[in-house]
Amino acid sequence: MPETVLVTGGAGFIGSHTCVELLDHGYEVVVVDNHVNSSPQALERIAKVAGRPLTAAHDVDVRDRAALSAVFAAHRVDAVIHFAAHKAVGESVSLPVEYYDTNVGGTCTLLSVMRRHRVRRLVFSSSCSVYGEAESGPLTEHSPVAPTNPYARTKLMCEQVLADVCAHFAELRVLALRYFNPVGAHPSGLLGEDPRGVPDNLMPYVAQVAVGRREELSVFGADYPTPDGTGVRDYIHVMDVAEGHRVALQHLDEHSGMQVFNLGTGTGTSVLQLVNTFARVSGRPVPHRTVGRRAGDVAALVADASAVTAAWGWTTTRDLTAMCRDAWQFQQLNPDGYSSRSSLAAGPTTGESPCS
Ligand code: NAD
Ligand code: WQD
Repeated sequence: MPETVLVTGGAGFIGSHTCVELLDHGYEVVVVDNHVNSSPQALERIAKVAGRPLTAAHDVDVRDRAALSAVFAAHRVDAVIHFAAHKAVGESVSLPVEYYDTNVGGTCTLLSVMRRHRVRRLVFSSSCSVYGEAESGPLTEHSPVAPTNPYARTKLMCEQVLADVCAHFAELRVLALRYFNPVGAHPSGLLGEDPRGVPDNLMPYVAQVAVGRREELSVFGADYPTPDGTGVRDYIHVMDVAEGHRVALQHLDEHSGMQVFNLGTGTGTSVLQLVNTFARVSGRPVPHRTVGRRAGDVAALVADASAVTAAWGWTTTRDLTAMCRDAWQFQQLNPDGYSSRSSLAAGPTTGESPCS
């Protein structure tokens, strides 16, 4: 019997790519998403890219205990991947209650529903933002945590909740993955990052400048103590992140309790390096202008990604060129995101439903 994985937030950026990865590897996939930050069209794209349907997709808020419980009652769930959360750092400062409610409250509701239905395996989306003001040098899972905004605190709180719950319920198996900066898209160009409004993050902003949707990129500071003065981050291809989740599922049962791993490449890239690589692979200019530093930014955040390789024998395989190429492919084919109607993105009409 193939394993059934329940993916919360499965219509979102990382969730949709992970669904494809799971379908490609024979898993049955059940999605729970209330589409507060995603398009239901992503679910159709998942089925189209994978060439087979999701088992089911439920328009459910993870905080809705009764509705979530009904989903677990309807499927034989072997493991859960919990992506559903709010993720915008700036917004979390102005909407802290909403962030704690969804991110921490939603995780608590999920845990109690999992317990009720005797589901004991969970992969949790954590974030490099828990490290906050970075130490110099690559960050290991043992580097101090010091979140600097409500969003990052929700992620650290969730990790603490999960550790406490694991300490009490010996049968639970939890992997918390701290992603660094996921970017890129599925190489088909059918799935990608579709931010609402003005993108907060660098890669989607650069892609929208290259496609002509925005005039120029503001580079937030060129006076950092980095080789070219611009901020350095550890960008990781979203398909590597997706693959990391599929591999995590295979290793969930190896340890009791909770384990935490970084998901990064271990390679730092500056803003200007990313801009120049994007311009090269797209063949389009990316006009940019240096402005002041963005509040709360740090000079460099790079993972020591060796622990996950030592534990699972797995590592990332896609480089910055692939990240830019695939982000550009998605941007070109979907200039207005999932609401676009470009010929390839619309694709041939198969008439298939994303769900069986
Ligand atoms: P996303 O916003 O694209 O996806 C999140 C999905 O969760 C969306 O489809 C949204 O509609 C859904 N959702 C939100 N609240 C919900 C609720 N109450 N009930 C049901 N569904 C809900 O974000 P993403 O970039 O795919 O991020 C996925 C996870 O990874 C998040 O937990 C995020 O905090 C974490 N993360 C993201 C990044 C990043 O840079 N993208 C980095 C580190 C960690
Ligand atoms: C990257 C670099 C900016 C936009 C965020 C979250 C973090 C995690 C990953 C969820 C920085 C510079 C950006 C622009 C720019 N997400 N930049 N002009 O801030 O490293 O991390 O995503 O967990 O929590 O904070 O990513 O893409 O916003 O910025 O110059 O228009 O690009 O200053 O150096 P960040 P980012």
